[in-house]
Amino acid sequence: MRVEVRIGAVQEVEADAVVVNLFEGVTTPGGATAAVDRALEGRISRVLAAGDFRGRLGETLVLYTDGRIPAPRVILVGLGPEASFNAEKVRHAAAAAAQRARDLRVRTLATVVHGAGRGGLSPEEAAQATVEGVLLGLYTYQRKKENAGGSGPETLLLVEFDAAKEAAIAAGARRAETLARFVNRVRDWVNEPGSDMTPRRLAEEVRGLAAEVGVRVQVLDEHQIAALGMGALTAVARGSEEPPRFIILEYAPEGRLERPVVLVGKGITFDSGGLNLKSEEGMLTMKGDMAGAAAVLGATLAAAALGLPVPVVALAPACENMPSGKSYKPGDILRALNGKTIEIVNTDAEGRLILADALSYAARYAPRAVIDVATLTGAAIIALGQDVAAALFSDHEELAAALLRAAEATGERLWRMPLWEDYLERIKSDVADVKNSGGRYGGLGTSAMFLKQFAPEGVPWAHLDIAPMDMAEKARGYIPKGGTGFGVRLLVRYLEDPRP
Ligand code: BES
Ligand code: MN
Ligand code: ZN
Repeated sequence: MRVEVRIGAVQEVEADAVVVNLFEGVTTPGGATAAVDRALEGRISRVLAAGDFRGRLGETLVLYTDGRIPAPRVILVGLGPEASFNAEKVRHAAAAAAQRARDLRVRTLATVVHGAGRGGLSPEEAAQATVEGVLLGLYTYQRKKENAGGSGPETLLLVEFDAAKEAAIAAGARRAETLARFVNRVRDWVNEPGSDMTPRRLAEEVRGLAAEVGVRVQVLDEHQIAALGMGALTAVARGSEEPPRFIILEYAPEGRLERPVVLVGKGITFDSGGLNLKSEEGMLTMKGDMAGAAAVLGATLAAAALGLPVPVVALAPACENMPSGKSYKPGDILRALNGKTIEIVNTDAEGRLILADALSYAARYAPRAVIDVATLTGAAIIALGQDVAAALFSDHEELAAALLRAAEATGERLWRMPLWEDYLERIKSDVADVKNSGGRYGGLGTSAMFLKQFAPEGVPWAHLDIAPMDMAEKARGYIPKGGTGFGVRLLVRYLEDPRP
């Protein structure tokens, strides 16, 4: 979709539909909505007087303009209560209006910038949120459809009356376009069936994009992975006919890679559970078990496309977890890249194993911070709820605070969980340094504590368990059903102002 800024009055713009908004409970519209209402001789006011539009978040109403303004339709969208207004509400409302426009087969959609100057939003932030809502809200997974059909408007006009805001709005819109491009790409990767989105395929897609945005890419094959001493990734991958890959992206702004932020993502392209085979229900969504890898790769590519000044490395160990005569077994003892040994008690706790090698690998960059992202545990879903929030663990207050701020700003919700030493007790092994599961109770905390044993020593580290968020069970606002792209906007926001 093409996105352009237009300076002028929204009631004068040529488009197939124009979007204006209303806070919940407002009976006398203001601003652009009032201007459109006047041009329509009070039609919006009459709708409100009749009580037929309340302004609830994402509520839409289509009005036909009968030649009173150039656009044949007005889409009125609700912003919810003004008291709780923020960028997340803008994204939600903008998506609802855009989806309505798509249903109406609108080709050129004009919209006001929702909420500039309200809820503490600058014009740039409001424009960014508006365009993000539209571009993310119109996403559908189309790679496998013969006739993809209505993909939505071709052009989005962001209409602003005040010419002094043009540059800020254009900047916000461009930023949103870049972010949405990578979020939607990550959604595609997650939605792609496991048999297609193999480790090799993921590496190839990343290679193409990395060349485009100027990021160095290295892909280690199964021989290089084994030769390096990545005993855990090698073991998990062994049960599959598909060879593993270890994908490395290095974004070095102006050639500088000193003290990068290192992002590590779990890239299990399909998790059958291995010999501890999952149930029918448990296995059904396991094509999404590479969502952490997809998020860190997408965020690094987006950071480069945005030209952020911070060096970033993404590490994505990728393989399948499959049962076969070659599979690793319960009782096996593996040696990770940092030399620590791991007793396998459950082959379905595979994510932490491949992350153990990747976190160990991170040490060679002398990172300023390491953040891993993984669909790690069902326990995270039990604790926080499907589609509600991801779990945050960190041993560093400033890093945790920065991630929580990024979560607040992007609407990609995080909830911090404790790293109590008790969890370490539960994963002590009689025969190795640690075991890969502490059993059913406290499974969220023990999984995080396991990872901590492999994070580079003395480096601020955070772990995001995104199992509740990688694939949405049902569509909501700008988040379609299926792959969400969770983490990309969050990480980019963090990288815009990284701490410590
Ligand atoms: N990929 C799963 C976790 C998961 C479950 C992600 C549901 C998204 C939705 C992970 O590899 C796994 O199987 N974890 C086990 C660990 C257990 C065996 C210690 C779990 O959570 O049951
Ligand atoms: Mn598993
Ligand atoms: Zn898994």
